[in-house]
Amino acid sequence: MSIVYTFDHPLIQHKLSILRDEKTGAKEFRELISEIAALMCYEATRDLPMEDAEVYTPVAPAKVRRLAGKKLAVVPILRAGLGMVEGVLSIIPSAKVGHIGLYRDPETLEPVEYYCKMPPDISERDVYIVDPMLATGGSAVAAIKVLREEHGVQRIRLMCIIAAPEGIAAVREAYPDVDIYAAAEDECLNEHGYIVPGLGDAGDRIFGTK
Ligand code: PRP
Ligand code: URA
Repeated sequence: MSIVYTFDHPLIQHKLSILRDEKTGAKEFRELISEIAALMCYEATRDLPMEDAEVYTPVAPAKVRRLAGKKLAVVPILRAGLGMVEGVLSIIPSAKVGHIGLYRDPETLEPVEYYCKMPPDISERDVYIVDPMLATGGSAVAAIKVLREEHGVQRIRLMCIIAAPEGIAAVREAYPDVDIYAAAEDECLNEHGYIVPGLGDAGDRIFGTK
């Protein structure tokens, strides 16, 4: 069964408190999404494989440990996932980036795919799907399905800023092997499928479209 990591780190929780505030403007909102993504990435990369090596310091040879060169990719779910990409790349700059475009139909809340572009070697990479909001879980499940069934990706993790219990349950049921990283798990969804208390519409707040 997948693991759900939530983050009680003071820096993440403080930034989240500003992010949730309806008075926070688009510029600060974007910066915070990116910063939280970077901090979460630190934990989400904890089990990357390492190898032994030796380097020469100006004083003496030193036995060191370094990344074993695992190939990674970050895949934002458009639009709002774009806000997390820069933060992730600040921690793992060698990751390739794939894009999947999904929007939620406002009536049915079902995800509608409108774009998909992956690096050619995506099936060889460990993939971090990023999206600030995991609400019903429909978009995340659809993105995982595309990566698994159309692109042959085996190892997938999901990073979101705020998750609803409903979304976590949906992903765990459909893909029990996908670990979920969420800065916070909130209470529930409202009748419009918005996370309560959440932070509103992440895409609109990032891009200033409302
Ligand atoms: C938001 C969010 C997720 C999705 C979550 O995107 O960024 O992708 O909703 O909801 P779900 O878990 O119920 O699928 P939205 O459809 O608003 O598109 P946008 O990012 O283009 O604003
Ligand atoms: N998408 C958002 O942007 N916010 C929510 O609360 C739910 C879905």
